[in-house]
Amino acid sequence: MAPSSFDLSQWLTDKTSRVDRSLHQLMPKASAKPATIHQAMRYSIFAGGKRMRPALVLAAAEACGGTDEPALPLACAVECIHTYSLIHDDLPAMDDDDFRRGKPTNHKVYGEGIAVLAGDALLTLAFEMVAGAKSWPRYSHRDLILELAVASGSRQLIAGQVADLEAEGQDIPVSQLRYIHERKTSALLCASVRFGGMSANCTPKQLAALTDFGTHVGLAFQVIDDILDVTQSSAVLGKTAGKDVDAQKATYPRLVGLEKSKKIAADLTRKAFASLDVFKGRATALEALARYLLERDR
Ligand code: IPE
Ligand code: IPE
Ligand code: MG
Ligand code: MG
Ligand code: MG
Repeated sequence: MAPSSFDLSQWLTDKTSRVDRSLHQLMPKASAKPATIHQAMRYSIFAGGKRMRPALVLAAAEACGGTDEPALPLACAVECIHTYSLIHDDLPAMDDDDFRRGKPTNHKVYGEGIAVLAGDALLTLAFEMVAGAKSWPRYSHRDLILELAVASGSRQLIAGQVADLEAEGQDIPVSQLRYIHERKTSALLCASVRFGGMSANCTPKQLAALTDFGTHVGLAFQVIDDILDVTQSSAVLGKTAGKDVDAQKATYPRLVGLEKSKKIAADLTRKAFASLDVFKGRATALEALARYLLERDR
């Protein structure tokens, strides 16, 4: 259990402002030519996301005795991948959403062509950021690049998005829904905590614990996302609520009901906590984040 003296809200305010500062530094200026694309990239990156993946990077680095500085380019990289995936997820050809992070979606403001390109540009920028990060005795640039490429590639994040689209209107078993969640969401959350560990030159044992933690927190994260789509308002979510039902998406509430979904998310979070033992009390921020992600309302 995280000590009650730990103030997650203060921790998040501090870390988010560091991540935002790094993003401002590492992204092309809004005035860089062609300005349209750089404005579109910045529009979605600075639209007000929760920055949970960067927070997981920094919390995992802390758990392994690391500091923010070497972890920040990796934290920015995962946020770029995540934001690209949202811009494309919202396109009319995919989930067709008009609101994201409390604002009109990228394609609503810049048009579909620029939105596709802004996503592409954020995806490639992420790898530029990783290339510019420091490498460590145990983890080379090759390891870091491979980590992000695999997590965001056609066997993980993209595989999940493909299976998510193909499951629309279908009756799929829970095992297939878990396959979707492992890939479309958990893979990047898992890579985020692993990145944090790598930035602290963590031991193989610590990396294995982070993998286990990230996988379970990532699965819980998407179950909660599915639940919030049913239980929360668009105003609080900053995206249109109730869209999953309209689109006949395969979700946990649809397959197993709301109460069972909540229990599954809590069980997954409990499993995540159990993997933190190896950090001997240093994983305070990770533990607090996992609890916050379970209890979040947006
Ligand atoms: C939404 O992610 C998409 C999912 C993978 C469930 P977040 O809930 O982290 O979205 P932001 O970054 O806060 O906008
Ligand atoms: C999005 O899942 C997953 C990725 C973008 C990789 P959802 O489609 O459930 O996310 P929201 O609900 O639109 O944020
Ligand atoms: Mg989707
Ligand atoms: Mg969506
Ligand atoms: Mg959703």
